[in-house]
Amino acid sequence: RAKGSDDHYSLMQWAARYFQQQLRQHPEKDRVIDYIKGRGLDGETVQRFGIGFAPPGWDSLLAQKRGDNRAQHLLAECGMLIEKEDSNRKYDRFRDRLMFPILDRRGRVIAFGGRVLGDGTPKYLNSPETPIFHKSRELYGLYQVRQAHRSVERILVVEGYMDVVALAQNGIDYAVASLGTSTTSEHIQTLMRTAQHEVVCCYDGDRAGRDAAWRALETALPQLKSGKALKFMFLPDGEDPDTLVRQEGKTAFEQRIGEAMPLSDYLFNHVRQEADLSNDEGKSRFIAQIRPLIEQIADDVLKETLLQRLETELGWGARQHFSQPAKQTGHRP
Ligand code: UTP
Ligand code: MN
Ligand code: MN
Ligand code: MN
Ligand code: MN
Repeated sequence: RAKGSDDHYSLMQWAARYFQQQLRQHPEKDRVIDYIKGRGLDGETVQRFGIGFAPPGWDSLLAQKRGDNRAQHLLAECGMLIEKEDSNRKYDRFRDRLMFPILDRRGRVIAFGGRVLGDGTPKYLNSPETPIFHKSRELYGLYQVRQAHRSVERILVVEGYMDVVALAQNGIDYAVASLGTSTTSEHIQTLMRTAQHEVVCCYDGDRAGRDAAWRALETALPQLKSGKALKFMFLPDGEDPDTLVRQEGKTAFEQRIGEAMPLSDYLFNHVRQEADLSNDEGKSRFIAQIRPLIEQIADDVLKETLLQRLETELGWGARQHFSQPAKQTGHRP
């Protein structure tokens, strides 16, 4: 597999500039600008996120490198050009889409997300894994968050590009997105290191969003630290951070963030939904479900706190249902 080089990075930077330039000068730019305005974004926000336009047509980007075989080869390695199977003809991956550059922690362009202008599938097209883009590690918007804050106190984790951008447009400049895939343990590690105070997961108000929240909790357990909070926000049905912050504005949205549910509450509430604590069968069911989760917590203080809560909720004695002592260092899978 090809290794990432300076040339890959500079071609991606060049591609981002090209898409930004097309947003200013393409003959069909008005249609794109109308779409951007319709989503409530102003020029400053477009600039801040380096949003651009990939023109329609099969070879807009390719035509800029006509005759430059090496550049074409590198652009193909970066996922910007697709090579036809039988011939060795190439064409643009991103066509007629609003382009969101994905930056790494040093601010280098490493990938793109491209949204159709209106309805159409796929709604978002993303760069594939490439020598310089490893999807499970990157968080969209993290570079901008770090630029905006000398010390990042709180990070909001959302699902989508548009959520990050709309939140920033509305003055909430500490959101990142996990690029559609679920939040990985690499993401959690980066988030917990970067946020000094708390990480708040805020996924869409739908089945997929609620499932993503629970998966994020499970993924995070071994990495939790006492002193840093992981919290969860549950949005009204059918809303996502973009639609909600545009409806109710910064203050009301930040009030919701302030009321986000601590991980421990979410853990207990979620498991309680499946067990009736008014009888012994329900209690043992509850313990059977929550035990393997609490046992994954490596942080002694946090684990002890949750065990104590378990005893309070179920009455004394619940702790004896735990095979391992509370004092345990490191996570054993
Ligand atoms: P959503 O479907 O919630 O999109 O997917 P969204 O961000 O609210 O999109 P808008 O508001 O209609 O523009 C959340 C995220 O999942 C990934 C993208 O990262 C998207 O932002 N996704 C979604 C894809 O990669 N491909 C898709 O076809 C759809
Ligand atoms: Mn700020
Ligand atoms: Mn959704
Ligand atoms: Mn959404
Ligand atoms: Mn949306």
